[in-house]
Amino acid sequence: MTGLEVENLSVRYGAVEAVRGLSLEVRPGQIVGLIGPNGAGKSSTLHAIMGSAPITGGDVRLDGTSIVGRRPEEVARRGVALVPEGRRIFGELTVDENLRLGLAGRSARTNGDGLARAHELFPILREFRSRQAGVLSGGQQQQLAIGRALAADPEILLLDEPSLGLAPKIVDIVFEALTQIRDAGLAVLLVEQRAQRTVALADVSHVLANGELRLTLGSKDAADTERLVAAYLA
Ligand SMILES: Nc1ncnc2c1ncn2[C@@H]1O[C@H](COP(=O)(O)OP(=O)(O)OP(=O)(O)O)[C@@H](O)[C@H]1O
Ligand SMILES: [Mg+2]
Repeated sequence: MTGLEVENLSVRYGAVEAVRGLSLEVRPGQIVGLIGPNGAGKSSTLHAIMGSAPITGGDVRLDGTSIVGRRPEEVARRGVALVPEGRRIFGELTVDENLRLGLAGRSARTNGDGLARAHELFPILREFRSRQAGVLSGGQQQQLAIGRALAADPEILLLDEPSLGLAPKIVDIVFEALTQIRDAGLAVLLVEQRAQRTVALADVSHVLANGELRLTLGSKDAADTERLVAAYLA
């Protein structure tokens, strides 16, 4: 298992070049952060990996096999799960029904129990299993969104700004869960606005600006705000 490799990736929407020549790798048991200002191309990168944004150059490989041109359902079956921006919870459905929707993207090679893992990581998902998802707090809904992705028992977990709009205490819960997910051997690619916290958490973080890689930092560089700010402004 070599994880996820993105090589020289370009994404373009008509005249807009959202990502230009981006290369990164995420190994099993590793969290890689992808940070940068608004419009940098972070979400486009995740969607390109998932097969839902137009790739105009480069390669995306899963365990050494290219997945460029695959449909999102097939990418999911090959073991990639996305926690989308804004959570996309179905408010009318129960917590349990939302979680089971994740099973639709279940990877072809699963032999684990993704639902059990989701319950173990986020006990409120078991406690509130019969509750309508729409009545949960923002933090609980984010736990549900991550739980739903884990239900598919993925090898690679992509997250798009999971801490957006959450209270600091809930951010702690989400970030702690990510370390447990990493320690369970998944490859985690984390898109975030909270740059410093992400650099501190991730094994490696890349700063993307205007579609291009500007800077790569290790977790020990979290205090180096000068380089971080400079990369954002470059
Ligand atoms: N579906 C689309 N059609 C056309 N242009 C798009 C589309 N999605 C994104 N873009 C453009 O591509 C560029 C990169 O957008 P993207 O959403 O990937 O950035 P981001 O880093 O995720 O930003 P944010 O921090 O605001 O979420 C922006 O200029 C954006 O306007
Ligand atoms: Mg985005």
